[in-house]
Amino acid sequence: MIRSTVRLTATLAIAAGLVSCSNDSGLNAAREGAVRAEGAAAAQALMTTLQANLVASMEEGGPVQAIEFCASRALVLTDSVSESLGDGISIKRVSERHRNPENAPDASEIEAIRHFNAALADDGVLPGDWVQETAAGELRYYRPLTIAPPCLNCHGNPESMDPRVLEALDVIYPDDQATGYEAGDLRGLIRVSVSEERVSQAIGG
Ligand code: HEC
Repeated sequence: MIRSTVRLTATLAIAAGLVSCSNDSGLNAAREGAVRAEGAAAAQALMTTLQANLVASMEEGGPVQAIEFCASRALVLTDSVSESLGDGISIKRVSERHRNPENAPDASEIEAIRHFNAALADDGVLPGDWVQETAAGELRYYRPLTIAPPCLNCHGNPESMDPRVLEALDVIYPDDQATGYEAGDLRGLIRVSVSEERVSQAIGG
């Protein structure tokens, strides 16, 4: 019994390995690994920066001030994290239900959002990331952003949100689509584009 479980596990692991070799990104394993390594580092750098700034701003002046902070600084910080990582890395946050129109997804980003949602619907688990080669040949890494309880201050059900927060949002984002989420929901993605030069450098070619 134990042995057959082990064998089954090994078979599944091999099958999973084969799937990831001819991964749906269509990239070979080394290139996909390089995009993943570069992308994961960049996504982590952005998350750390945005979270630290959001927390500091919330502590200093509460959610209304933090909204103004996000509105004026989130994109600037995103660009400066991209720049700090050197040539060949470009980072963006995207959501189908976006607040800031600058964060609207392009066709390949919509495909990525669907990929995560489909995986979540199929096995109830959100994949940790995804690597994509777009039709135009761009290499992209995606990391999902999910809603945690503190996010509900500004992305939750409007009926339970602070009216001052709703008012501040309405002034800056009259077409806001980014409320009505619950903890655990997929809120959006971090997208990291990685240039061919970065990939070859990472592989050592
Ligand atoms: C203080 C209010 C506030 C909190 C708390 C907050 N956000 Fe936001 N969020 C905003 C504002 C304002 C924007 C639009 C400006 C920007 O960041 O580009 C935004 C934008 C975003 C975007 C970019 C897509 C879009 O809709 O424009 C994502 C993704 C996002 N938030 C996720 C989160 C997550 C995940 C959390 C919790 C960890 C969170 N937010 C907490 C106010 C907030």
